[in-house]
Amino acid sequence: RFYAVIPAGGIGSRLWPLSRADAPKFLHDLTGSGQTLLRGTWDRLAPIAGPDRVMVVTGRAHRAAVEQQLPQLADRNVVLESEPKDSSAAIGLAAAILERREPGVIIGSFAADHVINDVRRFRRAIVEAISVADAGYIATIGIVPTEPAIGFGYIEAGERLEVPGAPSALAVTRFVEKPDLETARQYVDSGRHVWNAGMFISRADVLLDEMAKTKPDLVAGLRRLAEAWDTPERGAVVDQVWPGLEKIAIDYSVAEPAAAEGRLAVIEGDFSWDDVGDFASIAKMQSGGRTSDLAILGEHARVLADSSSGVVVTDRDRLITLIGVENIVVVDTEDALLVTTSEHAQRVKSVVDALKISG
Ligand code: GDD
Ligand code: MG
Repeated sequence: RFYAVIPAGGIGSRLWPLSRADAPKFLHDLTGSGQTLLRGTWDRLAPIAGPDRVMVVTGRAHRAAVEQQLPQLADRNVVLESEPKDSSAAIGLAAAILERREPGVIIGSFAADHVINDVRRFRRAIVEAISVADAGYIATIGIVPTEPAIGFGYIEAGERLEVPGAPSALAVTRFVEKPDLETARQYVDSGRHVWNAGMFISRADVLLDEMAKTKPDLVAGLRRLAEAWDTPERGAVVDQVWPGLEKIAIDYSVAEPAAAEGRLAVIEGDFSWDDVGDFASIAKMQSGGRTSDLAILGEHARVLADSSSGVVVTDRDRLITLIGVENIVVVDTEDALLVTTSEHAQRVKSVVDALKISG
């Protein structure tokens, strides 16, 4: 009864100039494994759901690249957006389509651009989450925080839930999406909060009902789209409905209100998890946390380094030479070069967004 949904949208402007409108983060290999993040996500999910039960929601522009990455992806499991409308629309539409095709289906949505090792533990957490979803909850996966990051949702865990098959599931007392730094610090210090890993597992109808409480117009639009989706009317209804869909993240439309109503649950993810947010986190991941190392990413990379540390990412085959620079970030692409430091790598997004150069 389980279906995996991969929303693959967004540019990932914190990773500019590698990640671009026409080559977003999920289409890159950021781990040096030789595999894109999207393919890694598929490889984790296909054995759990079955390769014919994984749906990908992405922009029309990415269709060819996605299909090339995922040759086993069935046509009916590709949902193409005419324009990005954020995660409520992407995941909500998948839920509405799948609920129509298969009433009572349980869906899990999983970000396309995360790095997770330890697939066995990941699988165990998802199996527990499916039991929790079966009991009517919306299940999340929580990651023990290591720093007061402001780019994540924070989950406050409460009492243990008595759900068969889910011994580690806890009730969620509160969900706060992207708090400010001071609040994030309090949460990390409290020891009661975990990061939201960006995964939501629930019955499709439960998710839609919850979203409809805060966003009735959005859900009405999504249901209209789903009704027409497997019919010849699809194109006309998309043209009519899509432009008016509200753009909002699912963390606001579903997770925060569901927590307030006691319908959100959390299972601790005891696997290693990284959302590869910026180049500093790539450097850290590549070097296993040793800041003295220089991480190098790129198939054709030629790097000569002396007394230097940080990360070099390149998609070109020209020689890059570093002498005596520490925690440096160099990203070299055909038409743009970025030079910063690990300390400032977080700021790439705001600079790129302000300059509107992400294309
Ligand atoms: N198809 C599609 N269309 N997918 C989208 C769109 C869209 O318009 N917008 C976002 N997504 C996808 C992203 O590709 C990603 O897989 C997922 O939805 C989450 O969106 P992000 O934009 O990456 O969210 P975030 O990183 O700021 O925050 C979320 O993830 C964090 C963990 O990495 C939240 O769920 C946080 O609570 C969470 O901690
Ligand atoms: Mg993200």
